[in-house]
Amino acid sequence: MVTDLNPFVYSRPVSPVDVIDREEEILRLLALAAGGHYVRLYGPRRYGKTSLLRKALQRAERSEGMVPVLVDLYGVLSLGDIAIRIERAYARLKGGIRRTIEGILQTSGLGLSLGAYGISVKLQLEPRTNPLPALHALLEVPLRLGERKGLRVLIAFDEFQDVLKVEDFDKLLRSHIQHHGEVASYVFCGSEPGMMRQLFDVKGRPLYGQAEPLRLGRLGDADVAPYIDKRFRRTKRSAGETVQPLLDAAAGHPQRAMLLAHRLWEEVPRGEEATFDQWSAALEQTKAQTAAEFEALWKRLQGNEQRALRAVALFPDGPYAARALGAVGLRKSSAHYAVGTLIERAELEAGAGRLTFVDPLLELWLRDVQAGLAT
Ligand SMILES: Nc1ncnc2c1ncn2[C@@H]1O[C@H](COP(=O)(O)OP(=O)(O)O)[C@@H](O)[C@H]1O
Ligand SMILES: [Mg+2]
Repeated sequence: MVTDLNPFVYSRPVSPVDVIDREEEILRLLALAAGGHYVRLYGPRRYGKTSLLRKALQRAERSEGMVPVLVDLYGVLSLGDIAIRIERAYARLKGGIRRTIEGILQTSGLGLSLGAYGISVKLQLEPRTNPLPALHALLEVPLRLGERKGLRVLIAFDEFQDVLKVEDFDKLLRSHIQHHGEVASYVFCGSEPGMMRQLFDVKGRPLYGQAEPLRLGRLGDADVAPYIDKRFRRTKRSAGETVQPLLDAAAGHPQRAMLLAHRLWEEVPRGEEATFDQWSAALEQTKAQTAAEFEALWKRLQGNEQRALRAVALFPDGPYAARALGAVGLRKSSAHYAVGTLIERAELEAGAGRLTFVDPLLELWLRDVQAGLAT
């Protein structure tokens, strides 16, 4: 049996008991949902959206008796894909409610099932099947459930921006959910500010102005520090004085904080307190682990976006100043345009009259590259 397990998870959503803070956001989300409003939850990648959704859904189930449904739309390209994801989301339910939904779906006669052989198998075996009737049936489940059981469903669509690839899905969705005021609440979650705006802020789009925005920000050091401390102690170690440089490096980025804590924990033998040398080693390990990701990102960027990022990394107090723009070879108008694009993609954040990197490790990487230190 492995007894000495690293307590810091950084590569998948954390379980509800391990979610740091987010209490305010969860309460607001549940209040809006209970009031029948749609919620648009947005924040950069790895800020903990999925973790938060899971916790909010768990609470909605336990304290409000709602039916919790989490639909992951990551990478969907077609209506068939979306039908599969919704069917699988219902398949994760348990007990009587699952049996009721299975009954509802089976009476449709469309090959829908919560068992092993659902619509995905049907679409594989008969690729010319029109997925639309199945999708309609799946989107109607809350109505049927309301009729039969008087239950309210809370449906969260995760990675909702990916439906932009599927023509008119938002129109189809709207045509259903507009009749669900009494039976279901909806949360739309996404990480690309630009794409979420296209869906909700463009006049004429089916979901225009339909959802209350709820933004997920960074975590506070005062919440992260005790969390790290406690997990070190629980596993017979101490983070000691290295918590502060770790917090500084993570800059409130939830996943970066957990990744750095994970690496630091690996450096510290059981029964000991972390040293600054161990912290430095952990940071180097983290940089090595993330370098490939930043190289790939860098290659996808246009020249002016690369220059703008470098200006922000090297001149954080005045990236638009003549000195900064001269150093990276960028005109002011081009800088503004590039920064706009980088904000839309959540690489940069504008706030309090200052541009900051969403990912503090990207900033470190850029400085290392500039200094000729990155390998
Ligand atoms: N509130 C939180 N408490 C603890 N860890 C978090 C929290 N939010 C995010 N994380 C960290 O970020 C990682 C990614 O979380 P996830 O919920 O998958 O983010 P997203 O869905 O926004 O991409 C998790 O593995 C965890 O390390
Ligand atoms: Mg997620």
